[in-house]
Amino acid sequence: MAEQNTGLNVVKHLVAVASGKGGVGKSTTTANLALATAAKGYKVGVLDADIYGPSQGLMLGVPAGSHPETLDEKWFIPLLSHGVKVMSMAFLVDDNAPMVWRGPMAAGALQQMLLQTHWGELDYLFIDMPPGTGDIQLTLSQKAKLTGALVVTTPQDLALLDARKGIEMFAKVQVPVLGIVENMSTHVCSNCGHEEAIFGAHGGAKLAQQYGTELLASLPLSLTIREHADAGNPSVVAEPQGPAALAYGALAEAMLDAINGAAGQAAPSISIE
Ligand SMILES: Nc1ncnc2c1ncn2[C@@H]1O[C@H](COP(=O)(O)OP(=O)(O)OP(=O)(O)O)[C@@H](O)[C@H]1O
Ligand SMILES: [Mg+2]
Ligand SMILES: [Zn+2]
Repeated sequence: MAEQNTGLNVVKHLVAVASGKGGVGKSTTTANLALATAAKGYKVGVLDADIYGPSQGLMLGVPAGSHPETLDEKWFIPLLSHGVKVMSMAFLVDDNAPMVWRGPMAAGALQQMLLQTHWGELDYLFIDMPPGTGDIQLTLSQKAKLTGALVVTTPQDLALLDARKGIEMFAKVQVPVLGIVENMSTHVCSNCGHEEAIFGAHGGAKLAQQYGTELLASLPLSLTIREHADAGNPSVVAEPQGPAALAYGALAEAMLDAINGAAGQAAPSISIE
């Protein structure tokens, strides 16, 4: 493993947040989950592995135009926001530079961020993955030892199909799937607060059952979650006692249980009917 002498050797757990399909809420979930984990007293970092469409800088409220300082001409010092350390491609390129890189270049950029970021001691480093199952996903599983992956999905059938691809990819590269996160499961009315499963219920639970993993959380589709994320002030810090923050707190708890329960065990077996 190309791990000795890098920032990663003082990171206890690397957790990838992934999905097969784009736009299901990986980045929003990563930002809130990271903050919820930090709120429990853990040292937390976020690596934005979305080279083409980085979003953690905006979501975590890192001021536009921020760049990491460097150390010994070798290390990037991650930026700090809301108490979590963040590294993103967005901090390394000009806002106007189009990122029309081909696969190998993007994988190289990720590798650099992965191996040359000076995280310091961390309990959990969350990796916000780009959509899909391509080069970036492969690079990550080859260059770093992941504790596991969370697969985010929405309850719609198409997204669930893509979630299957995500799960199967991690199985192929021997990364344990810690569980499924169903996002935008229910709609919360911003007028009266009532909650409705507009895309149907139980999809995430069925998927989890089928793959021998767990449904860690069903997160609501909520206007405030989007507004807080857009404002760089995720719900977990914007309204720490609000229903969204509590849901992310419960997700963090379930993830910690999945990791601690999984310690010393082999990757979960995959059973496909
Ligand atoms: N639970 C939620 N409630 C309301 N809006 C949400 C929720 N989760 C995500 N969103 C919104 O949906 C949009 C897509 O979310 P996000 O960027 O987190 O998805 P993603 O999976 O990271 O997308 P990509 O594949 O492009 O990286 C954003 O506008 C975000 O604010
Ligand atoms: Mg994203
Ligand atoms: Zn209503």
